[in-house]
Amino acid sequence: MVSERRRSQEQVQAQQTELTHLQRLNIGSEMASALAHELSQPLTAAMNYTLAALRMIKAPDPDLERAAEVLSKGISQVEAAGQTVHGLREFMQKSELRLSRSRIDETVERAFHLVSAEADAAHIDLRSVGLPALPPVYVDQVRIVQVLVNLLRNAVQAISEAKMASGAITVSGMDNGDLIEISVADAGPGIAAEVMVRLFLPFVSTKASGMGLGLAISKSILESHEGDLQAVALPQGARFKLTLPRSSAEIRDA
Ligand SMILES: Nc1ncnc2c1ncn2[C@@H]1O[C@H](COP(=O)(O)OP(=O)(O)O)[C@@H](O)[C@H]1O
Ligand SMILES: [Mg+2]
Repeated sequence: MVSERRRSQEQVQAQQTELTHLQRLNIGSEMASALAHELSQPLTAAMNYTLAALRMIKAPDPDLERAAEVLSKGISQVEAAGQTVHGLREFMQKSELRLSRSRIDETVERAFHLVSAEADAAHIDLRSVGLPALPPVYVDQVRIVQVLVNLLRNAVQAISEAKMASGAITVSGMDNGDLIEISVADAGPGIAAEVMVRLFLPFVSTKASGMGLGLAISKSILESHEGDLQAVALPQGARFKLTLPRSSAEIRDA
């Protein structure tokens, strides 16, 4: 009986290992085809601009100024392809964290500062609630600011794309014992149902010029801190919840 049960446990375990492996493979091929798509668009455009410029230069009475204009459009497209590769590398790179004891309110202030121009232009208020009471966390502050900027920018874009006259984004914090939680909430249009299940995969975007890397990179940053990033659909709007483990709040706190 005991050995039978063990055997079936081993079977279940083997199946689970196989399943996670398959899931990883699946994400890999999904990423590869998304990347191919993401790169072929700007590269094709760059090729077309370059060919057009070449034709102009070779013409009997070449309009060099026009050719230069067309060439610089080509350069922008190559730059866009470069940014995609750069972003992907950042996503896959597990570079070392530069941990330091950081106050959450100050970390959020830094992110607010970086997004304030965009938020002001869209008449969106950036608010924070309950942050000074949180214990300091032991994190790579630059990376956490990067995550917050990603989330705030997404919220600003969502609110302005929905053509809402004005709005607010609220960052709040909670000390949940084992976990420190930071929420970024907006009352915008909410997350589109078709992206909800694939939200944190690279190249998932509903924006015309979105790279779809922001949330994928942000989640991997939280995971490298042994925390997590989750999305919660609100009746009106979206909430992104960052969690950092308690231990990281207390190390070297003495
Ligand atoms: N606050 C939000 N409200 C509504 N949709 C959102 C919000 N944040 C993210 N999204 C959705 O998630 C998608 C992926 O976001 P992200 O990974 O940052 O890529 P990108 O901003 O380049 O599109 C966005 O295109 C958008 O559809
Ligand atoms: Mg984004």
